[in-house]
Amino acid sequence: MPLHTQVDESSQDDGLDVNPVYVHEQSFQIPRYRLPDQGTLPRTALQVVRDELILDGNARLNLATFVTTWMEPEAEVLMAECSAKNMIDKDEYPQTAELERRCVNILSSLWNSPAGGQATGCSTTGSSEACMLGGMALLWRWRARRQAAGLDAARPNLVMGSNVQVCWEKFCRYWQVEPHYVPMVPGRLHLRGAEAAARCDENTIGVVAIMGSTMDGSYEPVLEISQALDRVQAEQGHDVPVHVDGASGGFVAPFLQPDLEWDFRVPRVASINASGHKFGLVYPGVGWAMWRTPDALPDDLVFKVNYLGGEMPTFALNFSRPGAQVAAQYYNFVRLGAHGYRRVHQTCQDVALHLSGEIAKIGPFELLTEGRDLPVFAFKLRDDITGYSVFDLSERLRMRGWQVPAYTFPADMTDTAVMRIVVRNGFSMDLANLLLDDFRLQVKTLEHHPQTQPPPEIQKKRQSFKH
Ligand SMILES: Cc1ncc(COP(=O)(O)O)c(C=O)c1O
Repeated sequence: MPLHTQVDESSQDDGLDVNPVYVHEQSFQIPRYRLPDQGTLPRTALQVVRDELILDGNARLNLATFVTTWMEPEAEVLMAECSAKNMIDKDEYPQTAELERRCVNILSSLWNSPAGGQATGCSTTGSSEACMLGGMALLWRWRARRQAAGLDAARPNLVMGSNVQVCWEKFCRYWQVEPHYVPMVPGRLHLRGAEAAARCDENTIGVVAIMGSTMDGSYEPVLEISQALDRVQAEQGHDVPVHVDGASGGFVAPFLQPDLEWDFRVPRVASINASGHKFGLVYPGVGWAMWRTPDALPDDLVFKVNYLGGEMPTFALNFSRPGAQVAAQYYNFVRLGAHGYRRVHQTCQDVALHLSGEIAKIGPFELLTEGRDLPVFAFKLRDDITGYSVFDLSERLRMRGWQVPAYTFPADMTDTAVMRIVVRNGFSMDLANLLLDDFRLQVKTLEHHPQTQPPPEIQKKRQSFKH
């Protein structure tokens, strides 16, 4: 979350004006940065907060986020009913704990965990926490192996593409693990087997393979990466496990690419994470982490809480967490079933392929992906288009409410600026066609009115809604 700094003295007594319809006084203000001495009536408080929030973008037109922006009314009712339940109170809310257990079982079979292997998993606040837990398990296991062999365990490293989501950078910084990034280069925008293998050594705790790169929606080849690591083991003796960051793909590949081997069918895959709040179709805050076998999860990371007179093992960074999202995840499984998930995701993919195909036809764009893995695609302006940038186009689309992010790629490709569209449930073919009309119109406008580029400090701010 952004770190906020205390406002300066002169602003501390700023007030919010309250609509005169809601109060008796001619002019009534609520302090903006201080706790009011007295409260207000619920309707007044609701109006004050709502009035502020109208400036937020329209979530349905947000094509930047991977996170669910629409659930059906029945799911919203269920979430409201469960909003008081705390996930950690297993003893007080045993049925919520039971729903979590069922979700873990459903996911472990969706991810083809081996029969009898006792795959073990838990819910989290999202993929970031799940990645943190996955990374910690890799680190603890590597350290234990090194210490048992009497070897130095001071300089762990983690191998991944530079296209990883920021949570992996956080993991490395917080746990003092050296990130071994494989750079993106034109023509190879994500991690491949040979490059991953080349960055591994005796201090490598694991390799992260992403099922659905945040940059362009493409899947990293988990099987190829794993086979390259088999060769590392045969030639150098380092047995390097793979963690699959399936933040988005963990809920897409089982339905749209069921034959693709990316999950526990690949023996080297030790753990997987996914966001229930992305293509799991739940509102934000739920993720999932899963380990192939209980021993992939070191005992000293597990804490016990009370449960039905006994103890239940837990692994989490937070203690309290809302239970509503877990109930909603289970609701979605019951409501949609495998067939429903397939239909929802196939519809998103049809829309993504239609959009990418039509955007390619407009003329100035070059597609980097089409939306064939995740229903997500990225594109850039052709190198000979110099009169305007993707940032100009993003701003012009925003005038109509569309939020289409423009951003530059990470280190080694920072000169490449792209746009990315994430198609989620609720973004219909009709909306896609309206977006295309605006794309065509705005491109034509920009072609007739070349833009002067703003100074660097403003240019930097224009990248603000990258995820
Ligand atoms: C590949 C990948 N990993 C991890 C994350 C972090 O997920 P969350 O937002 O659920 O914490 C994201 C978010 O976009 C992602 O795309």
